[in-house]
Parts: sequence; structure tokens; C-alpha cells
Amino acid sequence: MRNSMEPPTHRSRKGEVPEKHPQAALTKSFTGFSRFTSSIGIRKICFRGKTLWKVILFRIKIKTMDNTMENNYSQVDLIREVFHYQSRFEGSTMVFKIDYPVIEEPGFPGLVKDLALLAKTGFKVVIVPGAKENIDVVLKQHDIESTYTPADDVPVRITTAQTISYVEMAAFNSASRFMTFLSGSRVDALIGNFVRARGLGVINGIDTEHTGTVDKIYTDSLTKVLNLGTIPILPCIGWSPSGKPYNVPSDEIALSVSKALGAIKLFIITAKDGMNVTRLTPQETEKLINSNSTLFQRELKLALKASQAGVHRIHIIDGREEGAVIKELYSNLGVGTMIYTDEYDSIRAFHSRDLPDVLRLMEPLMQKGLLIRRSAEQIQEKKNDYSVLEIDGSVRACGALHDWGENQGEIAAVATDPGYTDHGLGKKIVGSLIEKAKKAKLKRVFVLTTQSQDWFESLGFKDSNIESLPQQKRKVYDQARNSKVFGLEL
Ligand SMILES: CC(C)(COP(=O)(O)OP(=O)(O)OC[C@H]1O[C@@H](n2cnc3c(N)ncnc32)[C@H](O)[C@@H]1OP(=O)(O)O)[C@@H](O)C(=O)NCCC(=O)NCCS
Repeated sequence: MRNSMEPPTHRSRKGEVPEKHPQAALTKSFTGFSRFTSSIGIRKICFRGKTLWKVILFRIKIKTMDNTMENNYSQVDLIREVFHYQSRFEGSTMVFKIDYPVIEEPGFPGLVKDLALLAKTGFKVVIVPGAKENIDVVLKQHDIESTYTPADDVPVRITTAQTISYVEMAAFNSASRFMTFLSGSRVDALIGNFVRARGLGVINGIDTEHTGTVDKIYTDSLTKVLNLGTIPILPCIGWSPSGKPYNVPSDEIALSVSKALGAIKLFIITAKDGMNVTRLTPQETEKLINSNSTLFQRELKLALKASQAGVHRIHIIDGREEGAVIKELYSNLGVGTMIYTDEYDSIRAFHSRDLPDVLRLMEPLMQKGLLIRRSAEQIQEKKNDYSVLEIDGSVRACGALHDWGENQGEIAAVATDPGYTDHGLGKKIVGSLIEKAKKAKLKRVFVLTTQSQDWFESLGFKDSNIESLPQQKRKVYDQARNSKVFGLEL
């Protein structure tokens, strides 16, 4: 049990979630977006050149489905999340930097298929293939050994006049591997000269010759291509205005193109087991880099630079995992590590429009007798007492603070979305209700609970009794329910 009221940064890794957990069902259900969409009867409809998604039939066969509330819940919740993110990001540009080892993986065709699907459903997809390991192989075949620029930030391979043609060969080979599978998915793609480069010049007395850096991204050309629904592929080569080729690190190209196009997301897709951290702020990212305690130095440095360049969300994911991009994109919790600069989760006061969401959270818990039954009218009546916790604009937890006089407040109706338990949301919402009570100058908060006493104890609440409750509350205490009383002095 984590003690802090901080947002969670760690999560269960693949395989650690029990099968019956709704989140496991959600994750499992993501296996192949197309399989998912067809399974629930969503069909893509093209209308006047615009891609619209329309639910023509929700084939949730209640009769044949396992009829538990949790299973219904996770499937419906999954559909909600997909639509939420689809409408939120449609038409936006996303850049995918894909390390070369991912291209060699058996799951690579599936990954490209998912990128094609994103392009078909209205996202603007840009691919920046890595080629480092492929270049290594080609140079080795020609008995050429690489040297690197002095290790300053990230060392760069020195590309000489002798090696540039081999580097070009390997870079274009890596790009054309994407072409092959995108053609299979019937999506237009273009390997293009969108990068103007200039030479790195002489560093510490060493002429770096054909080693280049991004001078300019031809944004207009890229935008034209993207507006046609075509996927541009940018190999790690740039050209000077006179046509001289330079080898430019693909990380740098991904960064520059994300910045130039105002991409909303940069995906850094690796062939490494993911970090055991779901979310990082740029400050946390910097700390992690400086601590030298991670195998993700290069990726985190790129992510940090991208966040400083204005990309709000950078996702580091393991490209070997089936459907990793789709899972990361369409689920609030994702599967990789997200470096974010915009607001991800927040607690705010309840608005009337939140009523359906709050009832959705509370209903299964009321049915199980974990929460006292409250009607929509009763919640509305006390609406100023309620707070909600949103993740990416969706309500995922709620709670209320009722003032019973005698300087005491009751923390009640605490509920976390079943797909989001054990991620610290409950602690966060209770923490904010305690802060609210302190601001209201209350001296004590209490809870009445039937099955969550241990949880409240872990948050510092102490076993108490009915006599400690304010008189008004004692009058309505339900003897039959026999809830335990726990209190916290403020
Ligand atoms: C209790 C509840 C709000 C916790 O929500 P949550 O968002 O999962 O909580 P957190 O993520 O902050 O804490 C999770 C931790 O508490 C533990 N926990 C969850 N419910 C618990 C319970 N009833 N008793 C003891 N521990 C519990 C989890 O095992 C987890 O432990 P870990 O951190 O060691 O892995 C949620 O389970 C819920 O909605 N319960 C039903 C409603 C209820 O009882 N509300 C309280 C009365 S108002």
C-alpha cells in the first residue's frame, strides 16, 4: 500500500493483473483494434471525404455474454474510452520514431497495420524509422568500422564520403520495410526528402564530413502530403540546398518534425521491455536522466527535448507488444511511459453534467452494499459536497464531504472506477476531501464503512464509535447496516 496521496507512477506490469480484473479484460480486449471494432460492430463510413465513425450496431450480446456487472462494465467502458480518444485526437498529427530492432521483430507487420489504421481513421501519421543497427550491419559487410563524435550528449556516427552511400542504402532499406506493409494495408505512403540538412562540420579537429544536423523541415510539403491522407516516411538522411546528402540521427529528425508540425504526440517505439513507470513530468524525467539509473537514457533525453519543444505527450513504448500503440493511445492507463506537460488528471468540484458518471461509478457498489444507496435527486441536492477525479476528461473516481455540524465532516460516497483501482485515485480523492474539510475549518472527519476499514486505517483514520459522531448523524445512523466508524482529527 502506498502511503502518499500523490498520483500513482507505478503500475502492474503485463501478467501481474489477475485475469478477472476488469482492466485485464480491457487490456486483453485491445488485441488488434480491427478485431475489436468489428467485434462490437463499429464500421468506418466515409462521407464527403471525411472519415466518420459510426456505431451501426452494438452487438453486445447480453444473452451470451458473461452477465456479471464487471464484464459488462469493462466492455462498455472500453468503447467509451475509444470514442473519447478518437474524437479528442482525430485530425491531429502524431510522429512515430521507430527503432530499427522493432522492424526485425515478428510483430512488426501488426505494428504497421495499426499505424495504417490510425491514418485511415483520420490521424495524421508521420513515420521516422531508425536505421542504426541496419547501418552497422551494412558497414560491417563492407569491413568499415564506425567512429563517433566525442561523447557530448548523444554520440553521433561520423559518416565519411566513403560510407555515406552505404548509410543511404541502409536508411532507405529501413524506410522501405514500412512501405511494404503499408501497401499491404492499402494506405498511401511516401518516402520523402522533407529534411534540409547541413554538415556538423569539424568537431575537436575531426571533420565529420557527411554527418549532418537538421537545418529545416519542409513543413509545407509535409502538410500537403498529410492532408492527402498519405503517410510520410522520413529516412535518417537530409540534403543540403545543393543536394549533398547527410546522415542525420533519426531521433533528431523525429524531434524536429514533431516541433515543426506541432505534433500532439511523439511515440518513441523501442524493442526493449518498458520502464515500470506509467507517467513522468518533464521534471521527473530530468531527475531520472541525471540519476543515471535507467537503461532509457537516450529515449528520455529525446522525450525531454520534445516536451521542451512543445510536444505535450511523449510515449515510450515497447513495440514488440501486440497492439502497443493502440493500447497506449486508446486507454487512459496505457501500456508504456508517458511524459506529459499538459494536465492528465485533476480533481474538481462536481457539476450536474457529472451525474451520469457518478451514478455509473456508484451503482455497482450500491448494489453490492458497499455504498449506501443514493438517488440522482439526493446527489443533486448535495451537489456542492461532491468532488470528482478526471483522467483525460473522463470521471474515474468520486467522493463527498458532508458537513454534519459540531465541526465534523463525513467523507462518503468514495468510489473508484473498477478499471482504475489500485492506481492511487481513491487516496487522491480522500486527500482532497480532507483538504476541503481543513479549508472549511472542520476539526474532524469520519467515515462509516462496512468493508473498507483497513483502507481508511492505512490513510491514518482511527477506529472510533457511534458516540463520537455529531448528534445529527447519530440520529440517522442505520443500526441494521452496522457500519464501522473511523475518524481522523484534523
Ligand atoms: C476503497 C476504494 C475507494 C479504493 O480505491 P482505489 O482507487 O483502488 O484506492 P488506491 O489506489 O488509493 O489504494 C489501493 C490500495 O488499497 C488497497 N485496498 C483497496 N480496497 C481496500 C479495502 N477495501 N481494504 C483494504 N485495502 C484496500 C489495495 O489493495 C491497494 O493496495 P496497494 O497500494 O498496497 O496495492 C475502492 O476500492 C472502492 O471504490 N471501494 C468500494 C467503495 C467503498 O468502500 N468506499 C469507501 C466507503 S465511503
